[in-house]
Amino acid sequence: MQYGYFDDDAKEYVITRADTPLPWINYLGSDGFFSLISNTCGGYSFYKDAKLRRITRFRYNNVPHDEGGRCFYICDGETVWSPAFLPAKTALDFYRCRHGLGYSVFEGKKNGVSASLTVTVPMLTDMEVQKLVLKNESSIEKKLTVYGVAEWCLWNAVDDSTNFQRNWNIGEVEIEGGTVYHKTEYRERRNHYAFYSVNAPIDGFDTDRDTFLGRFRGWSEPQAVEQRTSFMSIAAGWAPIAALRLSLTLAPGESKTLLFRLGYVENTQEKKFTALNVINKEKAHAMLAAFDTEAQFDAAMDALKAYWSSLLSRFAVQSSEDKLDRMVNIWNQYQCMVTFNMSRSASYYESGTGRGMGFRDSCQDLLGFVHLIPERARERIIDIASIQFADGSTYHQYQPLTKRGNADIGSGFNDDPLWLIACTCAYIRETGDFSILDEPTPFNNETGTEVPLMEHLRRSLRYTVEHRGPHGLPLIGRADWNDCLNLNCFSLTPGESFQTCSNFESGKAESVFIAGMFVKYGKEYAALCDRIGLSEEAADVRVSVEEIEQATLRFGWDGEWFRRAYDAFERPIGSRENDEGKIFIEPQGFCVMAGIGGPEYGKRALASTEALLGNEFGIEVLHPCYTEYHDYLGEISSYPPGYKENGSVFCHNNPWITLAYCMVKDGNGAFDLYKRNAPAYIEDKSEIHRTEPYCYSQTIAGRDAKTYGEAKNAWLTGTAAWSFVAVSQGILGIRPDYDGLIVDPCLPDTMDGYRLSRLFRGTRYDVTVRRGENKGLIVNGKPVPGNIVPLTDAPVCAVALTI
Ligand code: GLC
Ligand code: GLC
Repeated sequence: MQYGYFDDDAKEYVITRADTPLPWINYLGSDGFFSLISNTCGGYSFYKDAKLRRITRFRYNNVPHDEGGRCFYICDGETVWSPAFLPAKTALDFYRCRHGLGYSVFEGKKNGVSASLTVTVPMLTDMEVQKLVLKNESSIEKKLTVYGVAEWCLWNAVDDSTNFQRNWNIGEVEIEGGTVYHKTEYRERRNHYAFYSVNAPIDGFDTDRDTFLGRFRGWSEPQAVEQRTSFMSIAAGWAPIAALRLSLTLAPGESKTLLFRLGYVENTQEKKFTALNVINKEKAHAMLAAFDTEAQFDAAMDALKAYWSSLLSRFAVQSSEDKLDRMVNIWNQYQCMVTFNMSRSASYYESGTGRGMGFRDSCQDLLGFVHLIPERARERIIDIASIQFADGSTYHQYQPLTKRGNADIGSGFNDDPLWLIACTCAYIRETGDFSILDEPTPFNNETGTEVPLMEHLRRSLRYTVEHRGPHGLPLIGRADWNDCLNLNCFSLTPGESFQTCSNFESGKAESVFIAGMFVKYGKEYAALCDRIGLSEEAADVRVSVEEIEQATLRFGWDGEWFRRAYDAFERPIGSRENDEGKIFIEPQGFCVMAGIGGPEYGKRALASTEALLGNEFGIEVLHPCYTEYHDYLGEISSYPPGYKENGSVFCHNNPWITLAYCMVKDGNGAFDLYKRNAPAYIEDKSEIHRTEPYCYSQTIAGRDAKTYGEAKNAWLTGTAAWSFVAVSQGILGIRPDYDGLIVDPCLPDTMDGYRLSRLFRGTRYDVTVRRGENKGLIVNGKPVPGNIVPLTDAPVCAVALTI
């Protein structure tokens, strides 16, 4: 069953009913100011950092799940309604939500009045702008009272929901015309404020939430709205809000437009005040003036759409598979941008108060993003490398506002450093910019410790080489990619963090997955060394790669698939010797991608993977699921069977298998798996899948779960980047390389070819792939041996491949 449909021409997903199984959200903003917005207009905004600089409040664990964010009320006679259904909850005569790229449009109708609300964060603007068009479609005059409301968060989202003994004393606002300024803590050390404003004279306001709502009331029925009034309350502590009220009279057929603006401003210390405790509003005035008319707003929308069209034109395919095209050309790339911006910090599942930017997460996100905006990828790589320690280990996360490593979680995830090699090599292959390797980059952000980025890569690699266990395989540390396989944790204390506690540092537990990673990225590192004239180093690295490859063949191969790990007592995990957790997905993906054991092992591993782990929605993490908790395994065994790391389809690693299929040249296997969880392909199962059909979710409950097929943790998942890599570089086979663009498709029998346009190093490659006789590559009309299109200075290059 579906709750909407794709509008590919508009690049929108159109939701046709408000009661989607879960809030179906979108992301607004591209740099500083970000908003989350659901299909009922809920959500929240923040500046750069969802924890440290939260602008509007959102109550996780609230009921209904999706209240808050932006509240609009339209009062028409006896009826009060909201354009996007919430918060008023009045049944609408018509409802539609169009989630587009960086904007959302809500269309609601009630009793002959229509509302069209478009919400976006214009580019290069620290402001969410909400354009509300109200139209009288009836034959009688309408006198409407309209409210637009924002509830402020007191900046630090953790304090905001914990430190009430202080918070309920500090809230402060200023009011100037139709603008409410939120200035809590500005009097002391904060040099930033927020504002909410409308571009028309207001008839009243409230800034104290409890006065506006009234006793025993929630957002669905504020006292002020019920009375069609405002109490002109001035917040003093408690919960400051901005509730603006306007009256509109609409003749039959007439429409009026209002622009509501939610902005954020930073001032310098010198220019903080204009009088005692009066904030300097200069910048806010300028921002409001820039978005004061409909024409200004519409121009910003046009610019946003043009921007996205241009970004997406960097990689666009046309094939016989509409759903593949839709994922590749629009939604998968869009999600790559969102994960680049958010890492795993702020969604409806990630509270924004826990994790900031993850080291491994952001490195992987770059793999699907680097072609979109290479300059931002470059900056991100340096930011990430700057939280690394001198010994090659690294902080696991950092806060986007401060860019400092997060000491609460610390380090010790032994896969982390290798991901830096993965994303740096991907960046150089995309751009040819070897100069990034010379970029002075500090350790742990300490000034004076800067070394060239290349030295960070070197230490990443060396860290693995120097941390090997009894079988010569890399030590796992706190965990590898699978955060829940905690082989040194041995926790028996409720609530103890599986990720940070280590009650028994065995110094022995090893990861076959990291071995696979090391072989893959070690080879890439060696190739990089060769390119920059470090052939001795390349040779040394290849020796280590060979050692770990041999150790993997000897101790990591179980007979029909790759083992997962060795535990603290040197016992295999992910082996037929185990009763549960006999096979895991991750090493099958990575060891096959790394080429360990060649196509023969690859094919056997994939056959076992499909036979034991395959379900309708993809490949499960492990099988059989753990039915009880084991302290020597950690969090993985804490989840009920079929959920999360204990046997769901953890979508992030499914593309590794798709790529592994491509490694062994099995196009049917690759595409069959791709389709099983690509959102557009399962749109018609939305009542089972439940999360948004236009983006990937982290997990889909496995066969052993009580809710088999149900997805969770939409949006912020490495699935976005890896799926894009799998479909673009694996199935379609377009791979940027140092010397040119590789065209090496691995198509299913059901696809006869495709046309594709790819911007690569300033040249637009128009690629046509088709099946036929006279196989081979033709570049600008001339046959070229092999499958690599050499670099060119020409603006356009025509490529034809017959397979
Ligand atoms: C989450 C984490 C990621 C980890 C994965 C598997 O998605 O963000 O870092 O690799 O879970 O545990
Ligand atoms: C939990 C989740 C895992 C995530 C980790 C992050 O362990 O199951 O997916 O990576 O938290 O801390």
